[in-house]
Amino acid sequence: MNEQSKEVPVKILQVNSSARREASHSTQVANRIVERLRNEAPDAALCVRDLGADPHPVLDEAALGALFTPPAQRTPEQAARVALDDALIAQVQAADVIVLGVPMYNFGVPAQLKNWIDAIMRAGVTFRYTAQGPEGLLKCKKVYVALARGGVYRGTPADTQVPYLRTVLGFLGIDDVQFVYAEGLNMGDEAQRQGLASALEQIGELVAA
Ligand SMILES: Cc1cc2nc3c(=O)[nH]c(=O)nc-3n(C[C@H](O)[C@H](O)[C@H](O)COP(=O)(O)O)c2cc1C
Repeated sequence: MNEQSKEVPVKILQVNSSARREASHSTQVANRIVERLRNEAPDAALCVRDLGADPHPVLDEAALGALFTPPAQRTPEQAARVALDDALIAQVQAADVIVLGVPMYNFGVPAQLKNWIDAIMRAGVTFRYTAQGPEGLLKCKKVYVALARGGVYRGTPADTQVPYLRTVLGFLGIDDVQFVYAEGLNMGDEAQRQGLASALEQIGELVAA
């Protein structure tokens, strides 16, 4: 157990992004991470957003128009659209620990997770540009990412998810990011069993017991 893992989480935000519900391995691994965190801090508050069941809208032209219209001039529809993003930003700002459930879809993150990322990255709120360059405004947060893949891509150039998520989260000021890999899940029963067992082992090492 390292020093960081002794931190007591106060508010946990879990964001699931699989299109699947009960059968989702990334959600199961994310659930296990949350379970371990709550063993450590039984009083921790948990907020769960399941982007598969409750998708966030895409960043389309109407959404951009709403975001770039000054608040006082927004139509009710524009205000409602911005409020959806505001709610996600508020959840992230309130969280001490964020747990992301992330399947690999076609070598990238699910579109639902990309929509969530597009919603929480807001200039002047979650990051800002200074004379010294960009500055992330989400400080002092820890993120665990539960990755589920049909194949095995950890540490290879085909794993675009990890560098992408590190870049996005780092840009927002979150550098304390731990990845849990559940891989080989579509490579037969034994590979799946091993992939899930390995993920549980990783959780045991990364998350305080
Ligand atoms: C649409 C789709 C695309 C997928 N693309 C990939 C892929 O590019 N690489 C991979 O290793 N597995 C891929 N898979 C397999 C999933 O990553 C794997 O089934 C994983 O368990 C899905 O996450 P979930 O169990 O949380 O739903 C894909 C699955 C689906 C449904």
